[in-house]
Amino acid sequence: MAARAGVPVSTLHFYEAEGLIESWRTPANHRRYDRRELRRVAIARIAQSVGIPLSEVRTVLDQIPRTAAVGKEDWSNAAAPWADLLDARIAILTRLRDQMHFCIGCGCLSLESCPLYNAEDKLAQNGPGARRWIGGASERADEVGRS
Ligand code: FES
Repeated sequence: MAARAGVPVSTLHFYEAEGLIESWRTPANHRRYDRRELRRVAIARIAQSVGIPLSEVRTVLDQIPRTAAVGKEDWSNAAAPWADLLDARIAILTRLRDQMHFCIGCGCLSLESCPLYNAEDKLAQNGPGARRWIGGASERADEVGRS
């Protein structure tokens, strides 16, 4: 099974422990896998290679009956949202790369003007200092969050 799936035996054991694949035991207590488990391993490997968490893989595989091999439609249904997730990640990374290019050659490392340094500081719009400890800051923060 490991040779056919192209993974180490330890990976099979890990996937089994995580509930992604199943095996049965011979009287000599050797693991045996049904050939349909190969497609489950393939999905897990692909998902891992693109950064999909195992919990997500488990959710997808749990929806496919154990008595059937993962079919073309099953794979398409799993891959479509993962492709959308990759698109979203690519967009974020592209934006970060562009901001990084903006920083290269600048060197200001300013909390106020650098898009990468303290990028999520929405309270900065309310002014300097510990804005949550200053009266009324939380209301203004809520306003910032709504805008
Ligand atoms: S270091 Fe100046 S904008 Fe980022």
